[in-house]
Amino acid sequence: MAVNKIEELRQRKAKIELGGGEKRIASQHEKGKLTARERINLLFDEGTFVEIDAFVNHRCVNFGMEKVESPGEGVVTGYGQVDGRLVYAYAQDFTVVGGSLGEMHAAKIVKVQDMALRMGAPIVGLNDSGGARIQEGVDALSGYAKIFYRNTISSGVIPQITAIMGPCAGGAVYSPALTDFIFMVDKTSQMFITGPQVIKTVTGEEVSAEELGGGMTHNRTSGVAHFLSANDEACIADIRRLLSFLPSNNLETAPVFQTADDVNKIIAELDEIVPENPNKPYDMKKVIELIADDGDFYEVQPYFAMNMLTGFIRINGQSVGIIANQPKVLAGCLDINASDKAGRFIRTCDAYNIPVLNIVDVPGFLPGTTQEYGGIIRHGAKMLYAYSEATVPKITLIVRKAYGGAYIAMCCKDLGADMVLAWPTAEIAVMGPEGAANIIFRKEISDSDNPQQTRVELVENYKKEFATPYKAAERGYVDDVIEPSATRPRLADALNMLASKRETRPAKKHGNLPV
Ligand code: HXC
Repeated sequence: MAVNKIEELRQRKAKIELGGGEKRIASQHEKGKLTARERINLLFDEGTFVEIDAFVNHRCVNFGMEKVESPGEGVVTGYGQVDGRLVYAYAQDFTVVGGSLGEMHAAKIVKVQDMALRMGAPIVGLNDSGGARIQEGVDALSGYAKIFYRNTISSGVIPQITAIMGPCAGGAVYSPALTDFIFMVDKTSQMFITGPQVIKTVTGEEVSAEELGGGMTHNRTSGVAHFLSANDEACIADIRRLLSFLPSNNLETAPVFQTADDVNKIIAELDEIVPENPNKPYDMKKVIELIADDGDFYEVQPYFAMNMLTGFIRINGQSVGIIANQPKVLAGCLDINASDKAGRFIRTCDAYNIPVLNIVDVPGFLPGTTQEYGGIIRHGAKMLYAYSEATVPKITLIVRKAYGGAYIAMCCKDLGADMVLAWPTAEIAVMGPEGAANIIFRKEISDSDNPQQTRVELVENYKKEFATPYKAAERGYVDDVIEPSATRPRLADALNMLASKRETRPAKKHGNLPV
Protein backbone atom coordinates (compact mmCIF):
# COMPACT_ATOMS: atom_id res chain seq x y z
CA MET A 1 0.00 0.00 0.00
CA ALA A 2 1.19 3.47 -0.79
CA VAL A 3 2.83 5.03 2.23
CA ASN A 4 0.86 8.23 1.77
CA LYS A 5 -2.42 6.32 2.22
CA ILE A 6 -1.23 5.03 5.59
CA GLU A 7 -0.03 8.49 6.47
CA GLU A 8 -3.43 9.90 5.55
CA LEU A 9 -5.14 7.35 7.80
CA ARG A 10 -2.86 8.26 10.68
CA GLN A 11 -3.51 11.94 10.20
CA ARG A 12 -7.23 11.43 10.03
CA LYS A 13 -7.18 9.38 13.25
CA ALA A 14 -4.95 11.87 15.04
CA LYS A 15 -7.35 14.69 14.15
CA ILE A 16 -10.32 12.73 15.45
CA GLU A 17 -8.46 11.87 18.63
CA LEU A 18 -7.93 15.56 19.28
CA GLY A 19 -11.72 16.02 19.48
CA GLY A 20 -12.66 19.70 19.73
CA GLY A 21 -9.00 20.75 19.80
CA GLU A 22 -6.40 21.90 22.32
CA LYS A 23 -8.33 24.96 23.50
CA ARG A 24 -11.49 23.09 24.33
CA ILE A 25 -9.52 20.26 25.96
CA ALA A 26 -7.80 22.87 28.17
CA SER A 27 -11.19 24.35 29.04
CA GLN A 28 -12.46 20.87 29.97
CA HIS A 29 -9.45 20.39 32.27
CA GLU A 30 -9.96 23.84 33.81
CA LYS A 31 -13.44 22.76 34.83
CA GLY A 32 -11.82 19.85 36.73
CA LYS A 33 -13.02 17.33 34.15
CA LEU A 34 -11.14 14.75 32.09
CA THR A 35 -11.78 14.37 28.36
CA ALA A 36 -13.83 11.52 26.94
CA ARG A 37 -10.69 9.67 25.82
CA GLU A 38 -8.94 10.12 29.15
CA ARG A 39 -11.99 8.68 30.89
CA ILE A 40 -12.15 5.73 28.51
CA ASN A 41 -8.46 4.99 29.02
CA LEU A 42 -8.94 4.90 32.79
CA LEU A 43 -11.99 2.67 32.53
CA PHE A 44 -10.40 -0.14 30.53
CA ASP A 45 -7.44 -2.38 31.35
CA GLU A 46 -4.41 -0.75 29.80
CA GLY A 47 -4.20 -1.09 26.03
CA THR A 48 -7.43 -3.10 25.66
CA PHE A 49 -9.82 -0.41 24.37
CA VAL A 50 -10.84 -0.78 20.73
CA GLU A 51 -12.62 2.19 19.23
CA ILE A 52 -15.31 1.78 16.63
CA ASP A 53 -17.05 4.35 14.45
CA ALA A 54 -14.34 6.97 14.94
CA PHE A 55 -14.97 8.26 11.39
CA VAL A 56 -18.72 8.77 11.81
CA ASN A 57 -19.83 12.34 11.17
CA HIS A 58 -23.11 14.22 11.34
CA ARG A 59 -25.09 14.96 8.20
CA CYS A 60 -27.06 17.95 9.40
CA VAL A 61 -27.32 20.96 7.11
CA ASN A 62 -29.53 23.16 9.27
CA PHE A 63 -28.43 26.44 10.83
CA GLY A 64 -24.94 26.36 9.29
CA MET A 65 -24.15 22.89 10.61
CA GLU A 66 -22.87 21.88 7.16
CA LYS A 67 -19.78 23.97 7.97
CA VAL A 68 -19.30 22.42 11.41
CA GLU A 69 -16.91 19.50 11.76
CA SER A 70 -17.60 17.13 14.60
CA PRO A 71 -14.61 14.79 15.08
CA GLY A 72 -15.91 11.46 16.38
CA GLU A 73 -19.39 13.03 16.30
CA GLY A 74 -19.00 14.05 19.95
CA VAL A 75 -18.90 10.56 21.39
CA VAL A 76 -16.18 7.91 21.71
CA THR A 77 -17.54 4.36 21.48
CA GLY A 78 -16.07 0.87 21.58
CA TYR A 79 -15.17 -2.10 23.74
CA GLY A 80 -12.33 -3.41 25.86
CA GLN A 81 -11.63 -5.29 29.04
CA VAL A 82 -12.25 -4.46 32.67
CA ASP A 83 -10.41 -6.87 34.97
CA GLY A 84 -10.06 -9.14 31.95
CA ARG A 85 -13.80 -9.16 31.09
CA LEU A 86 -15.45 -7.74 27.96
CA VAL A 87 -17.23 -4.41 28.54
CA TYR A 88 -18.70 -1.89 26.05
CA ALA A 89 -18.64 1.85 26.62
CA TYR A 90 -19.49 5.22 25.18
CA ALA A 91 -18.12 8.52 26.42
CA GLN A 92 -19.63 11.80 25.28
CA ASP A 93 -17.03 14.36 24.23
CA PHE A 94 -18.03 17.80 25.49
CA THR A 95 -15.24 19.40 23.44
CA VAL A 96 -17.15 18.52 20.22
CA VAL A 97 -20.35 20.58 19.80
CA GLY A 98 -20.84 20.36 23.57
CA GLY A 99 -21.20 16.57 23.40
CA SER A 100 -24.67 17.29 22.05
CA LEU A 101 -26.64 14.34 20.71
CA GLY A 102 -27.73 14.30 17.08
CA GLU A 103 -28.79 11.52 14.73
CA MET A 104 -25.31 10.06 14.11
CA HIS A 105 -24.07 10.57 17.67
CA ALA A 106 -27.08 8.50 18.76
CA ALA A 107 -26.39 5.90 16.04
CA LYS A 108 -22.92 5.33 17.50
CA ILE A 109 -24.34 4.75 20.97
CA VAL A 110 -27.09 2.50 19.62
CA LYS A 111 -24.50 0.37 17.81
CA VAL A 112 -22.56 -0.39 21.00
CA GLN A 113 -25.80 -0.96 22.90
CA ASP A 114 -26.81 -3.58 20.33
CA MET A 115 -23.37 -5.19 20.42
CA ALA A 116 -23.30 -5.33 24.22
CA LEU A 117 -26.71 -7.03 24.29
CA ARG A 118 -25.74 -9.55 21.59
CA MET A 119 -22.46 -10.38 23.26
CA GLY A 120 -23.92 -10.44 26.78
CA ALA A 121 -21.51 -7.87 28.17
CA PRO A 122 -22.02 -4.85 30.45
CA ILE A 123 -22.21 -1.36 28.97
CA VAL A 124 -20.95 1.81 30.61
CA GLY A 125 -22.11 5.25 29.49
CA LEU A 126 -20.06 8.30 30.44
CA ASN A 127 -22.36 11.32 29.97
CA ASP A 128 -21.16 14.87 29.44
CA SER A 129 -23.48 16.63 27.03
CA GLY A 130 -25.50 19.74 26.29
CA GLY A 131 -28.41 17.41 25.43
CA ALA A 132 -30.33 17.17 22.18
CA ARG A 133 -28.37 18.87 19.37
CA ILE A 134 -30.70 21.75 18.81
CA GLN A 135 -29.87 22.13 15.10
CA GLU A 136 -30.90 18.52 14.44
CA GLY A 137 -34.39 18.90 15.85
CA VAL A 138 -36.56 15.83 15.71
CA ASP A 139 -33.67 13.64 14.47
CA ALA A 140 -32.03 14.22 17.85
CA LEU A 141 -35.22 13.26 19.66
CA SER A 142 -35.48 10.12 17.56
CA GLY A 143 -31.90 9.28 18.58
CA TYR A 144 -32.76 9.56 22.25
CA ALA A 145 -35.83 7.39 21.85
CA LYS A 146 -33.73 4.67 20.19
CA ILE A 147 -31.34 4.72 23.14
CA PHE A 148 -34.16 4.59 25.74
CA TYR A 149 -35.74 1.67 23.89
CA ARG A 150 -32.50 -0.30 24.01
CA ASN A 151 -31.92 0.62 27.66
CA THR A 152 -35.26 -1.00 28.39
CA ILE A 153 -34.78 -4.09 26.24
CA SER A 154 -31.35 -4.70 27.81
CA SER A 155 -32.65 -4.12 31.34
CA GLY A 156 -32.15 -7.25 33.42
CA VAL A 157 -30.08 -8.88 30.67
CA ILE A 158 -26.77 -6.99 30.80
CA PRO A 159 -25.63 -4.61 33.53
CA GLN A 160 -25.98 -1.01 32.37
CA ILE A 161 -24.03 1.63 34.28
CA THR A 162 -24.13 5.37 33.69
CA ALA A 163 -21.86 8.08 35.00
CA ILE A 164 -22.91 11.72 34.85
CA MET A 165 -19.70 13.69 34.40
CA GLY A 166 -21.03 17.03 33.19
CA PRO A 167 -24.42 18.46 32.27
CA CYS A 168 -27.33 16.10 31.60
CA ALA A 169 -30.53 18.02 30.99
CA GLY A 170 -34.05 17.58 29.69
CA GLY A 171 -35.23 14.21 28.47
CA ALA A 172 -31.56 13.17 28.23
CA VAL A 173 -31.75 12.20 31.90
CA TYR A 174 -33.99 9.27 31.05
CA SER A 175 -31.32 7.04 29.56
CA PRO A 176 -29.37 7.09 32.84
CA ALA A 177 -32.62 6.62 34.76
CA LEU A 178 -33.40 3.46 32.78
CA THR A 179 -30.01 1.90 33.58
CA ASP A 180 -29.12 -0.13 36.66
CA PHE A 181 -26.78 2.31 38.40
CA ILE A 182 -26.05 6.03 38.17
CA PHE A 183 -22.80 7.60 39.34
CA MET A 184 -22.46 11.37 39.69
CA VAL A 185 -19.29 13.39 40.08
CA ASP A 186 -19.47 15.90 42.91
CA LYS A 187 -19.68 19.55 41.81
CA THR A 188 -19.12 18.92 38.07
CA SER A 189 -22.28 17.03 37.13
CA GLN A 190 -25.94 17.98 37.04
CA MET A 191 -29.15 16.25 36.06
CA PHE A 192 -32.50 17.94 35.66
CA ILE A 193 -35.59 17.83 33.47
CA THR A 194 -35.94 21.60 33.43
CA GLY A 195 -33.03 23.87 34.31
CA PRO A 196 -32.88 26.80 36.74
CA GLN A 197 -33.86 29.39 34.11
CA VAL A 198 -36.99 27.57 32.98
CA ILE A 199 -37.98 27.00 36.60
CA LYS A 200 -37.57 30.70 37.36
CA THR A 201 -39.75 31.64 34.39
CA VAL A 202 -42.48 29.12 35.10
CA THR A 203 -42.70 28.97 38.89
CA GLY A 204 -40.65 31.96 40.04
CA GLU A 205 -38.44 29.66 42.15
CA GLU A 206 -34.75 30.59 42.28
CA VAL A 207 -32.37 27.68 42.56
CA SER A 208 -28.78 27.10 41.47
CA ALA A 209 -27.94 24.30 39.04
CA GLU A 210 -25.96 22.53 41.75
CA GLU A 211 -28.75 22.77 44.30
CA LEU A 212 -31.32 21.69 41.73
CA GLY A 213 -29.55 18.73 40.21
CA GLY A 214 -26.01 18.37 41.54
CA GLY A 215 -24.44 15.13 42.72
CA MET A 216 -25.41 15.49 46.36
CA THR A 217 -28.99 16.49 45.51
CA HIS A 218 -29.54 13.29 43.55
CA ASN A 219 -27.66 11.11 46.02
CA ARG A 220 -29.29 12.43 49.17
CA THR A 221 -32.62 14.02 48.28
CA SER A 222 -34.13 12.52 45.12
CA GLY A 223 -32.50 9.07 45.23
CA VAL A 224 -32.02 9.25 41.43
CA ALA A 225 -28.28 8.53 41.73
CA HIS A 226 -26.63 5.59 43.46
CA PHE A 227 -23.08 6.80 43.95
CA LEU A 228 -21.27 10.11 44.45
CA SER A 229 -17.61 10.33 43.44
CA ALA A 230 -15.17 13.09 44.37
CA ASN A 231 -13.78 13.53 40.85
CA ASP A 232 -13.55 11.84 37.44
CA GLU A 233 -10.69 9.51 38.40
CA ALA A 234 -12.51 8.32 41.53
CA CYS A 235 -15.72 7.85 39.54
CA ILE A 236 -14.06 5.57 37.00
CA ALA A 237 -12.35 3.58 39.77
CA ASP A 238 -15.76 3.21 41.47
CA ILE A 239 -17.33 1.92 38.23
CA ARG A 240 -14.59 -0.71 37.93
CA ARG A 241 -15.22 -1.73 41.54
CA LEU A 242 -18.97 -2.04 40.95
CA LEU A 243 -18.41 -4.19 37.86
CA SER A 244 -16.36 -6.61 39.98
CA PHE A 245 -19.50 -7.51 41.96
CA LEU A 246 -21.63 -8.13 38.86
CA PRO A 247 -21.79 -10.93 36.31
CA SER A 248 -21.47 -10.04 32.61
CA ASN A 249 -25.11 -10.95 31.98
CA ASN A 250 -28.21 -12.58 33.44
CA LEU A 251 -27.11 -16.10 32.46
CA GLU A 252 -23.87 -15.93 34.41
CA THR A 253 -22.90 -15.54 38.04
CA ALA A 254 -20.61 -12.85 39.41
CA PRO A 255 -16.89 -13.58 39.38
CA VAL A 256 -15.49 -15.17 42.54
CA PHE A 257 -12.57 -13.38 44.19
CA GLN A 258 -10.80 -15.72 46.56
CA THR A 259 -9.82 -14.22 49.89
CA ALA A 260 -7.38 -15.02 52.66
CA ASP A 261 -10.10 -14.04 55.16
CA ASP A 262 -11.05 -17.27 56.98
CA VAL A 263 -14.65 -18.15 56.21
CA ASN A 264 -14.95 -20.18 59.41
CA LYS A 265 -13.86 -17.25 61.54
CA ILE A 266 -15.69 -16.93 64.88
CA ILE A 267 -16.31 -13.23 65.48
CA ALA A 268 -16.68 -12.68 69.23
CA GLU A 269 -17.53 -9.00 68.71
CA LEU A 270 -20.89 -9.99 67.20
CA ASP A 271 -21.99 -11.53 70.52
CA GLU A 272 -21.82 -8.07 72.09
CA ILE A 273 -23.01 -5.85 69.27
CA VAL A 274 -26.76 -5.72 70.01
CA PRO A 275 -27.32 -3.55 73.11
CA GLU A 276 -29.22 -4.95 76.13
CA ASN A 277 -31.70 -2.10 75.90
CA PRO A 278 -33.93 -2.79 72.87
CA ASN A 279 -34.42 0.93 72.29
CA LYS A 280 -30.71 1.65 72.03
CA PRO A 281 -29.39 2.05 68.47
CA TYR A 282 -26.17 0.58 67.12
CA ASP A 283 -24.49 0.73 63.73
CA MET A 284 -25.69 -2.05 61.42
CA LYS A 285 -22.81 -1.25 59.05
CA LYS A 286 -20.49 -2.67 61.69
CA VAL A 287 -22.39 -5.99 61.62
CA ILE A 288 -22.13 -6.11 57.83
CA GLU A 289 -18.42 -5.29 57.80
CA LEU A 290 -17.69 -7.93 60.43
CA ILE A 291 -19.45 -10.60 58.37
CA ALA A 292 -17.97 -9.57 54.98
CA ASP A 293 -14.74 -10.88 53.44
CA ASP A 294 -11.96 -8.46 54.42
CA GLY A 295 -14.55 -6.14 56.02
CA ASP A 296 -15.41 -4.80 52.57
CA PHE A 297 -18.95 -3.39 52.17
CA TYR A 298 -19.59 -1.47 48.91
CA GLU A 299 -22.64 0.55 49.83
CA VAL A 300 -25.19 1.44 47.14
CA GLN A 301 -27.11 4.70 47.71
CA PRO A 302 -25.24 5.47 50.95
CA TYR A 303 -26.80 8.94 51.31
CA PHE A 304 -30.45 8.14 50.48
CA ALA A 305 -33.01 6.58 52.86
CA MET A 306 -30.26 5.91 55.35
CA ASN A 307 -32.65 3.87 57.53
CA MET A 308 -32.16 1.13 54.93
CA LEU A 309 -28.72 -0.16 53.93
CA THR A 310 -28.14 -1.70 50.51
CA GLY A 311 -24.90 -2.80 48.91
CA PHE A 312 -22.52 -5.58 48.03
CA ILE A 313 -20.20 -7.73 50.10
CA ARG A 314 -18.46 -11.01 49.39
CA ILE A 315 -18.63 -14.13 51.51
CA ASN A 316 -16.07 -16.78 50.65
CA GLY A 317 -15.34 -14.74 47.52
CA GLN A 318 -18.96 -14.76 46.29
CA SER A 319 -20.95 -11.57 45.64
CA VAL A 320 -23.86 -11.10 48.03
CA GLY A 321 -26.45 -8.29 47.97
CA ILE A 322 -27.19 -6.81 51.40
CA ILE A 323 -30.55 -5.37 52.41
CA ALA A 324 -30.39 -4.30 56.05
CA ASN A 325 -32.27 -2.06 58.45
CA GLN A 326 -30.16 0.67 60.08
CA PRO A 327 -31.30 1.13 63.71
CA LYS A 328 -29.24 4.35 63.89
CA VAL A 329 -31.62 6.17 61.52
CA LEU A 330 -35.38 6.42 62.25
CA ALA A 331 -34.85 3.35 64.46
CA GLY A 332 -34.60 1.35 61.22
CA CYS A 333 -38.32 1.87 60.38
CA LEU A 334 -39.47 1.20 56.83
CA ASP A 335 -40.75 4.25 54.98
CA ILE A 336 -41.47 5.22 51.37
CA ASN A 337 -37.88 5.91 50.35
CA ALA A 338 -36.47 2.88 52.17
CA SER A 339 -39.02 0.65 50.43
CA ASP A 340 -38.17 2.07 47.00
CA LYS A 341 -34.46 1.74 47.66
CA ALA A 342 -34.70 -1.86 48.88
CA GLY A 343 -37.27 -2.94 46.27
CA ARG A 344 -35.10 -1.74 43.42
CA PHE A 345 -31.94 -3.30 44.85
CA ILE A 346 -33.58 -6.69 45.44
CA ARG A 347 -34.71 -6.73 41.77
CA THR A 348 -31.21 -5.76 40.60
CA CYS A 349 -29.68 -8.64 42.58
CA ASP A 350 -32.32 -11.07 41.33
CA ALA A 351 -31.83 -10.04 37.70
CA TYR A 352 -28.08 -10.67 37.95
CA ASN A 353 -28.10 -13.88 40.00
CA ILE A 354 -26.66 -12.33 43.13
CA PRO A 355 -27.92 -14.00 46.34
CA VAL A 356 -29.49 -11.63 48.86
CA LEU A 357 -28.84 -11.44 52.58
CA ASN A 358 -31.48 -9.58 54.58
CA ILE A 359 -30.37 -8.40 58.00
CA VAL A 360 -33.38 -7.52 60.08
CA ASP A 361 -33.84 -5.10 62.96
CA VAL A 362 -37.09 -3.36 62.14
CA PRO A 363 -39.68 -2.00 64.58
CA GLY A 364 -42.30 -1.47 61.85
CA PHE A 365 -43.45 0.93 59.17
CA LEU A 366 -43.00 4.63 59.95
CA PRO A 367 -46.35 6.05 61.11
CA GLY A 368 -47.77 9.41 59.97
CA THR A 369 -49.86 11.24 57.41
CA THR A 370 -46.80 12.09 55.30
CA GLN A 371 -46.21 8.41 54.80
CA GLU A 372 -49.86 7.46 54.28
CA TYR A 373 -50.60 10.31 51.87
CA GLY A 374 -47.33 9.64 50.07
CA GLY A 375 -48.51 6.11 49.35
CA ILE A 376 -46.51 3.94 51.75
CA ILE A 377 -48.99 1.16 50.94
CA ARG A 378 -48.01 1.24 47.27
CA HIS A 379 -44.29 1.74 47.96
CA GLY A 380 -44.03 -0.84 50.75
CA ALA A 381 -45.72 -3.33 48.41
CA LYS A 382 -42.70 -3.07 46.12
CA MET A 383 -40.54 -4.80 48.74
CA LEU A 384 -43.05 -7.62 49.21
CA TYR A 385 -43.30 -7.98 45.46
CA ALA A 386 -39.55 -7.90 44.87
CA TYR A 387 -38.80 -10.51 47.53
CA SER A 388 -41.64 -12.82 46.44
CA GLU A 389 -40.63 -12.54 42.80
CA ALA A 390 -36.90 -13.10 43.41
CA THR A 391 -35.65 -16.61 42.70
CA VAL A 392 -32.03 -16.09 43.78
CA PRO A 393 -30.95 -17.62 47.11
CA LYS A 394 -32.54 -15.53 49.87
CA ILE A 395 -31.14 -15.64 53.39
CA THR A 396 -32.70 -13.71 56.26
CA LEU A 397 -30.81 -13.01 59.48
CA ILE A 398 -32.94 -11.56 62.28
CA VAL A 399 -30.70 -9.84 64.80
CA ARG A 400 -33.23 -7.92 66.89
CA LYS A 401 -36.69 -6.54 66.13
CA ALA A 402 -38.89 -8.12 63.50
CA TYR A 403 -42.39 -6.84 64.06
CA GLY A 404 -45.62 -7.09 62.12
CA GLY A 405 -45.81 -6.23 58.45
CA ALA A 406 -42.20 -5.11 58.49
CA TYR A 407 -41.16 -8.63 59.60
CA ILE A 408 -42.83 -9.94 56.46
CA ALA A 409 -41.52 -7.11 54.23
CA MET A 410 -37.93 -7.94 55.21
CA CYS A 411 -38.36 -11.41 53.69
CA CYS A 412 -39.70 -13.84 56.24
CA LYS A 413 -39.88 -17.58 55.57
CA ASP A 414 -43.25 -17.45 53.83
CA LEU A 415 -42.20 -14.68 51.48
CA GLY A 416 -39.70 -17.15 50.13
CA ALA A 417 -36.61 -16.94 52.35
CA ASP A 418 -34.62 -20.13 51.81
CA MET A 419 -32.91 -19.91 55.16
CA VAL A 420 -33.96 -17.84 58.18
CA LEU A 421 -31.42 -17.54 60.95
CA ALA A 422 -32.00 -15.59 64.16
CA TRP A 423 -29.77 -14.42 66.95
CA PRO A 424 -30.95 -15.07 70.54
CA THR A 425 -31.56 -11.30 70.77
CA ALA A 426 -34.29 -11.53 68.09
CA GLU A 427 -37.80 -10.35 68.94
CA ILE A 428 -40.28 -11.74 66.43
CA ALA A 429 -43.90 -10.79 67.05
CA VAL A 430 -46.94 -9.04 65.67
CA MET A 431 -46.00 -5.85 67.50
CA GLY A 432 -43.67 -4.47 70.18
CA PRO A 433 -44.32 -5.50 73.81
CA GLU A 434 -45.58 -2.08 75.01
CA GLY A 435 -48.16 -1.71 72.26
CA ALA A 436 -49.22 -5.34 72.45
CA ALA A 437 -49.72 -5.28 76.25
CA ASN A 438 -51.79 -2.07 76.02
CA ILE A 439 -54.21 -3.80 73.68
CA ILE A 440 -54.49 -7.38 74.85
CA PHE A 441 -54.26 -6.63 78.60
CA ARG A 442 -56.30 -3.41 78.55
CA LYS A 443 -58.95 -4.81 80.86
CA GLU A 444 -56.51 -6.38 83.33
CA ILE A 445 -54.59 -3.10 83.52
CA SER A 446 -57.65 -0.89 84.00
CA ASP A 447 -59.22 -3.31 86.56
CA SER A 448 -56.02 -3.51 88.57
CA ASP A 449 -55.57 -1.69 91.91
CA ASN A 450 -52.17 -0.62 90.66
CA PRO A 451 -52.49 -0.21 86.86
CA GLN A 452 -48.96 1.10 86.49
CA GLN A 453 -47.41 -1.87 88.25
CA THR A 454 -49.68 -4.38 86.49
CA ARG A 455 -48.80 -2.90 83.15
CA VAL A 456 -45.06 -3.20 83.79
CA GLU A 457 -45.48 -6.84 84.89
CA LEU A 458 -47.61 -7.77 81.91
CA VAL A 459 -45.20 -6.11 79.45
CA GLU A 460 -42.36 -8.01 81.09
CA ASN A 461 -44.31 -11.30 80.78
CA TYR A 462 -45.07 -10.59 77.15
CA LYS A 463 -41.41 -9.84 76.46
CA LYS A 464 -40.26 -13.09 78.04
CA GLU A 465 -42.88 -15.13 76.28
CA PHE A 466 -43.13 -13.52 72.84
CA ALA A 467 -40.27 -11.05 72.21
CA THR A 468 -37.86 -13.89 71.43
CA PRO A 469 -36.94 -15.97 68.40
CA TYR A 470 -38.23 -19.17 69.98
CA LYS A 471 -41.98 -18.88 69.22
CA ALA A 472 -41.10 -18.44 65.54
CA ALA A 473 -38.56 -21.26 65.71
CA GLU A 474 -41.18 -23.58 67.28
CA ARG A 475 -43.25 -23.23 64.13
CA GLY A 476 -40.29 -23.51 61.75
CA TYR A 477 -40.52 -19.87 60.63
CA VAL A 478 -36.94 -19.59 61.83
CA ASP A 479 -34.68 -22.42 60.67
CA ASP A 480 -32.18 -22.01 63.48
CA VAL A 481 -31.24 -19.75 66.34
CA ILE A 482 -27.49 -19.25 66.19
CA GLU A 483 -24.74 -17.72 68.27
CA PRO A 484 -23.95 -14.34 66.71
CA SER A 485 -20.22 -15.07 66.75
CA ALA A 486 -20.82 -18.05 64.40
CA THR A 487 -22.72 -15.97 61.81
CA ARG A 488 -20.03 -15.86 59.12
CA PRO A 489 -19.49 -19.62 58.89
CA ARG A 490 -23.26 -20.22 59.02
CA LEU A 491 -23.89 -17.77 56.17
CA ALA A 492 -21.06 -19.21 54.09
CA ASP A 493 -22.49 -22.67 54.63
CA ALA A 494 -26.01 -21.55 53.68
CA LEU A 495 -24.74 -19.87 50.49
CA ASN A 496 -22.88 -23.02 49.60
CA MET A 497 -25.96 -25.17 50.21
CA LEU A 498 -28.14 -22.80 48.12
CA ALA A 499 -25.72 -22.58 45.19
CA SER A 500 -27.72 -25.10 43.14
CA LYS A 501 -31.09 -23.45 43.84
CA ARG A 502 -33.45 -23.50 40.86
CA GLU A 503 -36.91 -22.05 41.12
CA THR A 504 -39.36 -21.26 38.35
CA ARG A 505 -42.44 -19.06 38.19
CA PRO A 506 -45.60 -19.44 36.11
CA ALA A 507 -45.14 -18.21 32.54
CA LYS A 508 -46.56 -14.72 32.05
CA LYS A 509 -45.98 -11.66 29.93
CA HIS A 510 -44.77 -9.75 32.97
CA GLY A 511 -45.93 -9.16 36.49
CA ASN A 512 -47.67 -5.98 37.55
CA LEU A 513 -45.21 -4.50 40.03
CA PRO A 514 -46.88 -1.71 42.03
CA VAL A 515 -44.59 0.98 40.53
C1 HXC B 1 -26.07 22.24 19.99
C2 HXC B 1 -24.75 22.79 21.79
C3 HXC B 1 -25.71 22.27 22.68
C4 HXC B 1 -26.89 21.70 22.13
C5 HXC B 1 -24.06 23.01 23.82
N1 HXC B 1 -23.76 23.24 22.55
N2 HXC B 1 -25.26 22.43 23.93
N3 HXC B 1 -24.93 22.76 20.46
N4 HXC B 1 -27.02 21.71 20.79
N5 HXC B 1 -27.83 21.18 22.91
C6 HXC B 1 -22.54 23.86 22.01
C7 HXC B 1 -22.48 25.32 22.35
O1 HXC B 1 -23.17 26.06 21.38
C8 HXC B 1 -20.99 25.58 22.30
O2 HXC B 1 -20.60 25.69 20.97
C9 HXC B 1 -20.41 24.30 22.82
O3 HXC B 1 -21.43 23.32 22.69
C10 HXC B 1 -20.05 24.39 24.30
O4 HXC B 1 -21.16 24.92 24.99
P1 HXC B 1 -21.03 26.17 25.98
O5 HXC B 1 -22.40 26.72 26.14
O6 HXC B 1 -19.96 27.08 25.53
O7 HXC B 1 -20.54 25.44 27.30
P2 HXC B 1 -20.86 25.81 28.81
O8 HXC B 1 -20.73 27.28 29.03
O9 HXC B 1 -20.03 24.89 29.63
O10 HXC B 1 -22.41 25.45 29.02
C11 HXC B 1 -22.85 24.12 28.89
C12 HXC B 1 -24.37 24.04 28.85
C13 HXC B 1 -24.90 25.00 27.73
C14 HXC B 1 -24.95 24.44 30.21
C15 HXC B 1 -24.75 22.59 28.59
O11 HXC B 1 -24.18 24.73 26.55
C16 HXC B 1 -26.35 24.80 27.46
O12 HXC B 1 -27.21 25.32 28.22
N6 HXC B 1 -26.66 24.12 26.38
C17 HXC B 1 -28.01 23.89 25.94
C18 HXC B 1 -28.68 22.93 26.84
C19 HXC B 1 -30.06 22.56 26.36
O13 HXC B 1 -30.99 23.34 26.51
N7 HXC B 1 -30.13 21.42 25.67
C20 HXC B 1 -31.35 20.91 25.19
C21 HXC B 1 -31.97 20.18 26.36
S1 HXC B 1 -33.44 19.41 25.93
P3 HXC B 1 -19.43 26.71 20.50
O14 HXC B 1 -19.29 26.42 19.06
O15 HXC B 1 -19.94 28.06 20.82
O16 HXC B 1 -18.23 26.34 21.31
C22 HXC B 1 -32.98 17.90 25.54
C23 HXC B 1 -34.11 17.09 25.12
C24 HXC B 1 -33.77 15.67 25.10
O17 HXC B 1 -31.88 17.53 25.60
C25 HXC B 1 -35.05 14.96 24.87
C26 HXC B 1 -34.89 13.51 24.94
C27 HXC B 1 -36.21 12.83 24.87
